[in-house]
Amino acid sequence: MAEKNFRLQCTVNGHPIDKMVDPTARLLDTLREELHLTGCKEGCGQGECGACTIFMDGKPVDSCLVMTIQAQGHRLVTIEGMAFEGRLDTIQQMFVEEASVQCGFCIPGMVVAARALLEEKEDPTLEEVRYALGGNICRCTGYHKIFRAVLRAAKIERQLRLEGKPSQLKDLPGVHPAPSADRL
Ligand code: FES
Ligand code: FES
Repeated sequence: MAEKNFRLQCTVNGHPIDKMVDPTARLLDTLREELHLTGCKEGCGQGECGACTIFMDGKPVDSCLVMTIQAQGHRLVTIEGMAFEGRLDTIQQMFVEEASVQCGFCIPGMVVAARALLEEKEDPTLEEVRYALGGNICRCTGYHKIFRAVLRAAKIERQLRLEGKPSQLKDLPGVHPAPSADRL
């Protein structure tokens, strides 16, 4: 059995972490088994399916390919940290409204990858959404409803930004202000 001989200090979903862990464990396993954040999933375990995607310093990474020691001092956000002030992320809300979820296994990674796209591009085309989610495999949905949800979330966030109505972002049910880069 691997030794928990490394003091991991980082932030996860905005909370400081200070915990003895196995530095050689995959970050995916440390998140799930030590920190009990089971939103990120193991599909392939080799960087092919995207089910384990999380944010690391604002960039999406496959947590199955990251060793725990590499997270030292970094800022991690998992799907559990995407909801904000009691509201789902706009993308999560649109997944619900567009019925984009079947078994749900791929969805945490999809949401993280989609959020990463919308942080880069506020008005993505369908092709850009397809490309951005190209590393996330879904075996159930056929993808169309997922793409539609991402495009709808982008439209809502864009409209509200354009209208300069940040207070309305808070007032709209299910929609929170687009997450700032420092939250991710
Ligand atoms: S489990 Fe990490 S990419 Fe598939
Ligand atoms: S909803 Fe089942 S794998 Fe995507």
